[in-house]
Amino acid sequence: MCGIIGYVGSKEAVPLLLNGLKRLEYRGYDSSGIALIDGPEIQILKKKGKLEALEQELLGGKQKATIGIGHTRWATHGAPNDVNAHPHLSGNGSIALIHNGIIENYIELKKTLLTKGYTFKSDTDTEVLVNLIAEFYDGDLQAAVIRALRRVEGTYGIAVIHVDHPDEIVFARKGSPLVVGIGEGEYLIASDLAAMVEHTRDVVFLEDGEVGTISRNGFTHIKLDESPISRSVTHIDFTLEQIEKGGYKHFMLKEIMEQPITLEDSMRGRLLEEVGEIRLGGLTEHLDALTRAERILLLACGTSYHAGLVGEYLIEDLARVPVEVEYASEFRYRHPVISPNTVSFSISQSGETIDTLEAMREAKKQGALSLGIVNTVGSTIARESEGGVYLHAGPEIGVASTKAFTSQVTIFAMLAILLGRQRGMSDSVAKELIIALKKIPSQVDQILKHQDQIVDIAKTFSRASNFLYLGRGINYPVALEGALKLKEISYIHAEGYPAAEMKHGPIALIDRHMPVVVVAPQDKNHAKIVSNIEEVRARDGVVIAIVSEDDHEVDRLANHIIRVPETHPSLMPLLTVIPLQLLSYYAADLLNLDVDKPRNLAKSVTVE
Ligand code: AGP
Ligand code: GLU
Repeated sequence: MCGIIGYVGSKEAVPLLLNGLKRLEYRGYDSSGIALIDGPEIQILKKKGKLEALEQELLGGKQKATIGIGHTRWATHGAPNDVNAHPHLSGNGSIALIHNGIIENYIELKKTLLTKGYTFKSDTDTEVLVNLIAEFYDGDLQAAVIRALRRVEGTYGIAVIHVDHPDEIVFARKGSPLVVGIGEGEYLIASDLAAMVEHTRDVVFLEDGEVGTISRNGFTHIKLDESPISRSVTHIDFTLEQIEKGGYKHFMLKEIMEQPITLEDSMRGRLLEEVGEIRLGGLTEHLDALTRAERILLLACGTSYHAGLVGEYLIEDLARVPVEVEYASEFRYRHPVISPNTVSFSISQSGETIDTLEAMREAKKQGALSLGIVNTVGSTIARESEGGVYLHAGPEIGVASTKAFTSQVTIFAMLAILLGRQRGMSDSVAKELIIALKKIPSQVDQILKHQDQIVDIAKTFSRASNFLYLGRGINYPVALEGALKLKEISYIHAEGYPAAEMKHGPIALIDRHMPVVVVAPQDKNHAKIVSNIEEVRARDGVVIAIVSEDDHEVDRLANHIIRVPETHPSLMPLLTVIPLQLLSYYAADLLNLDVDKPRNLAKSVTVE
């Protein structure tokens, strides 16, 4: 996820592009850059870090170009630095490209281009695409873009300029948003409306598989197969703030709702269903160590710790490797014993949590192979780890972590299959899991389409002062995560507990004022957790049960039933957590609390 903007018209492009990039910064940025045509060469300036770094270099400059493209990067391939920042130039310097998305087959394409004598300066997948366009260019820029994109697998939203076509910006979209802005003698292309609203409110939304050109005289667009398109112009009335949140009231709700997309992105290019294998590029060089591992150590805090607990169930059950999950803050100070052949994974959305970073350093110091499962490319934990897996979930802005959790669990599911296959997991079991994984995004979407009931439950209980969350097996960490979500944004006290353990104390808390959320999908623990629900009911507890869609055994017991689709029991946390995310969101919103910035919390805890 990143920001793209292109402008062609009669105004000076630099201030307009910079302002547009500012409007797109919420989409995530670790570096930024622009490319201009104003003479015989394309001028490019790009910088690591915040947009101000680029602005310092540009404003006050002498560039008078009236055509240009700009990009704020959210890195997926290649650490954030000046070289990997966009725009990327073709080897001959004639074409500049900016890209939002992932070119899955960039390695194969790069090998082919290298044999044709192309050279590369960056580590990105994007630089492969600009040289592929150069390879096909023979005077018609749009035609070259089409020919190149027909060879690309993955996702893109791109804008391309050529020094010999100072009036044209070619664009194309597949899987990453793009919108055309229609002005008076000027046209824009951008990732979303936020970059448009100050110039025009007349836009054309592009759809996947479309390519076209904007110029000072107008714009054209066609399908990638060159068939025609007719698309009406939309007049937009959103405010800027509404646009940044995708029309949702809060970033947290936007991030809950975009999980079908972010789950797709976390799996993109990594599920090899036909052979029942998993490809996690960042672990390739460590496969031997992972195969030999006698213990896996998972280090994390908060929601990432809960994802690690799900990972423990997945890896031990599917790969039979002993796993130990540790609160990073405890691990780093307890003088831990690290046995030989220990592999540690530090799990962190931000990649900057100091407790997790220091725990990773402690594990590394004691000889563990230190890997990461991180969302923010180029973050400290990512850079100091010896390898790992990126979530590709895009920037998570709401302080309460939601899409990062489901992407972390997805990475663990893929890791468990990968390790399992090294240790005798059969083709059929692996394929069954991969097929089930592929269905998860649409199943999450199904749950998200039925929120009214959850809103009603939130209305009923938003004034409660305590909640208990119960779960068994792989859904026990989901109970912990649901309790944390509620606590941190609604300020209602909530406690997650293993359902069977409730008898050893917390049951004393239960009375008719105590809502008890029970995560009770149809799995090997079902009969037991039904007994736990009976125990709660026997003490007048009010039960909110998360159950499988065809399970009616709990109907007679629960005060509220929330149904989720069936999936492989190992993947159930990806579905059972969604209603709990929504419940905490609506409870907090009903209480008129600052959902995106809850009191006392920070998105990344970089202090001890
Ligand atoms: C989760 O909703 C909280 N914001 C918090 O517990 C968070 O998960 C924790 O601080 C770890 O953050 P990280 O994943 O960026 O390391
Ligand atoms: N995959 C490209 C890169 O890592 C684009 C990332 C983005 O969408 O910002 O540079």
